[in-house]
Amino acid sequence: MRRILGIESSCDETAAAIVDSGRHILAQRIASQDEEHRPYGGVVPEIAARAHAERLTPLIGATLNDAGMTLDDVDAIAATAGPGLIGGVMVGLVTAKALAMASDKPLIAINHLEGHALSPRLADPTLAFPYALLLVSGGHCQLLRVDGVGRYRRFATTIDDALGEAFDKTAKILGLGYPGGPQVEKLALEGNAEAVRLPRPLVGSGEPHFSFAGLKSAVLRAKEGGQFTDADIAASFQKAARECVIDRSRIALEAMEDSGGGITALVAAGGVAANAVLRGALEELAEERGLRFVAPPSPLCTDNAAMIAWAGLERFETGQSDPLDISARPRWPLDPEAEPVRGAGVKA
Ligand code: KG4
Ligand code: ZN
Repeated sequence: MRRILGIESSCDETAAAIVDSGRHILAQRIASQDEEHRPYGGVVPEIAARAHAERLTPLIGATLNDAGMTLDDVDAIAATAGPGLIGGVMVGLVTAKALAMASDKPLIAINHLEGHALSPRLADPTLAFPYALLLVSGGHCQLLRVDGVGRYRRFATTIDDALGEAFDKTAKILGLGYPGGPQVEKLALEGNAEAVRLPRPLVGSGEPHFSFAGLKSAVLRAKEGGQFTDADIAASFQKAARECVIDRSRIALEAMEDSGGGITALVAAGGVAANAVLRGALEELAEERGLRFVAPPSPLCTDNAAMIAWAGLERFETGQSDPLDISARPRWPLDPEAEPVRGAGVKA
């Protein structure tokens, strides 16, 4: 049984986990920085980097302790090396390098997006390649075909905002605080999703891409207009967002099916995949297209280190590791061949 220590520090969660090849999460700890960033309504990179630097080393010690292990008991050390806020990524990667050097264990540099992309395989042993992946997080909204470890083909991406960003901005407009996604979902339960007429950007277009900027602006206008309750705006926004995601994903899935490849599952991952309404709608879409629907449990959707340890394990099992002089990468697409589109994957 192989065991990997994983480290995550690319945004506002400082996290460490130990995962084994039997898909057991032997220990995991997450220190959230919500309190630090809440007054600003979003993540402040400088505050995040400093908090990671203060917390990471004791957190790793505590995680090893929880598992009753020392560094001698792990086979390799995996850390997020990008994409993300560069200060935080560097804290995690440099720490991993120091631990790898001190313990003479291999270092595995992980693309954070690959952590999300492979996380469903940690939760579901029967999920085999290739699969269609909707990756929806604070910085990304993409539909990819996952052909294997390190093998991704992008079929759709956002031309402006990421889906999580649209949720977070809606939360900010409604004064719901940070992080916004879960709060919008909660408030939407009390609202009427038909109350506010909001646009569905790109819906009906044959181009398989996503767009959420127009939706966000319409939410702002609805709030400023003063005639709707916050709950009605939240519910109407969530419904519009869901319809955009489903329509755009359907077009992208058609393109994917046309390209061959024999996918059998539609998989959702990333923080927004924790949203129950979206999960329900994706399940229906999967059924419509004769696919199985797979999404990891919510705590594995939002940023965590178990997914980084697991991606490390998948790479390690195929004989991969990285040199100690590898650099952190603020931008690191999963599919480097994909044509760039305006604003894609860039956090505003
Ligand atoms: O994957 P993640 O934890 O971090 C990134 O890599 O970006 O995703 C965070 C994003 C945030 O925008 C957050 O508001 C959103 O995921 N999110 C949700 C929910 N839980 C987290 N959005 C909608 N509904 C949720 N339940
Ligand atoms: Zn993430």
